[in-house]
Amino acid sequence: MAKILQVEIINIEKLTPIIFRMTMKSEYIAKNALPGQFVNVKCSEGLNALLRRPISICSVDRSCNTFDIVFQIKGIGTEYLSQKKVGSKVDLIGPLGKAFDLSPEYRRIAVIGGGIGIFPLFNILREIKNAESSAFIGFRNSDYAVLVDEFRKNCSRFNVSSDDGSVGYKGLVVDMLEKDLQENKYDIIYTCGPTPMIKRVVEIAGSKGIRCQVSLEQRMGCGIGACLVCACKTKYGDEWEYSHVCKDGPVFWSNEVVFDD
Ligand SMILES: Cc1cc2nc3c(=O)[nH]c(=O)nc-3n(C[C@H](O)[C@H](O)[C@H](O)COP(=O)(O)OP(=O)(O)OC[C@H]3O[C@@H](n4cnc5c(N)ncnc54)[C@H](O)[C@@H]3O)c2cc1C
Ligand code: FES
Repeated sequence: MAKILQVEIINIEKLTPIIFRMTMKSEYIAKNALPGQFVNVKCSEGLNALLRRPISICSVDRSCNTFDIVFQIKGIGTEYLSQKKVGSKVDLIGPLGKAFDLSPEYRRIAVIGGGIGIFPLFNILREIKNAESSAFIGFRNSDYAVLVDEFRKNCSRFNVSSDDGSVGYKGLVVDMLEKDLQENKYDIIYTCGPTPMIKRVVEIAGSKGIRCQVSLEQRMGCGIGACLVCACKTKYGDEWEYSHVCKDGPVFWSNEVVFDD
C-alpha cells in the first residue's frame, strides 16, 4: 500500500550537470518497494501539493533503510528537486504502481532501456535471484551516460550503446539486442524507454516468442488513478480501452498495450 511520507535526503550525487542520484531514508519504502514501482514526489513548496512528479525507485538498500532515485532535469519539477539539500525532507507518495513480474521460473532475463528508462530496470538486476541476466542500455551520447559501471557489475552480460558512438556501440540499443538474440535465449525481456524503442523491443520479443514486459513513462497528474492524465490504450477483447499508467501500470505485458502508429 502506498503512503504519503516525509523522507530525509541522505545523499545527493550530481552524475552529470543535469542528472542526479538522490538517496533517501525510508524504512517503509525500503521494505515494501518492488522493481518497477515509483514514487510521486512533491516538487513545490508549501500547500501546493499539485506539482508531483513520478520517479522510479532505482535501487533499495534494506540494511540501511534507504532507496535511490535517479532523475534528469526536464522542467520545473525536476529542476526544483535538483536544488534540494542533504538533510532536508521530501514529501512523496509510494511505493506506487505495478511491479515487474520477477517469477523464479525466469532463469534467463534481459533488460533493455534507453535514457531515463534505464533507472527502473536497474532495480530488477539488483533484486533477481538465481537468474542469468543481460543488460542493454542506450544513451544519446556520453553526456547522458550514467550508472554504466553499476549496470556492468550487476549483470552477467553487459551491452551499452550511444547514438554517436561516444559510449559503447554506435547505434541503437535494439540493434544490440537483435544481434545478441542470434546467439542467446531469454525467458523474459523487460524494457523501458522512448516509445519507438519499446515498440521495436516488443516486435522483436514477439517474433522470437519471448515474454516481454514494458514500463511506460506517461505524463502523470495525481499518480493514484483519480485524474486520467496518464491514460494509455490497452487491449480489451478485440477492442481497446483506456488504462491508467499510474494504477494499472506502469508495467504492462507487451501484448496488453496498444501502441498508436
Ligand atoms: C512511472 C514513471 C517513472 C519515471 N521515472 C523517472 C526516473 O526514474 N527518472 C527520471 O528522470 N524521470 C522519470 N520519469 C519521467 C519524469 O516523471 C518526468 O521527466 C518529469 O515528470 C518531468 O517533470 P518536470 O516538471 O521536470 O518537467 P515539465 O515541466 O512537466 O515538462 C518538461 C518537458 O518534459 C516532458 N515530460 C514531462 N513528463 C514527461 C514524461 N513522463 N515522459 C516524457 N516526457 C515528459 C514534457 O513534455 C516537457 O517537454 C518517470 C515517469 C513515469 C511516468
Ligand atoms: S496520474 Fe491521475 S489517473 Fe494516473
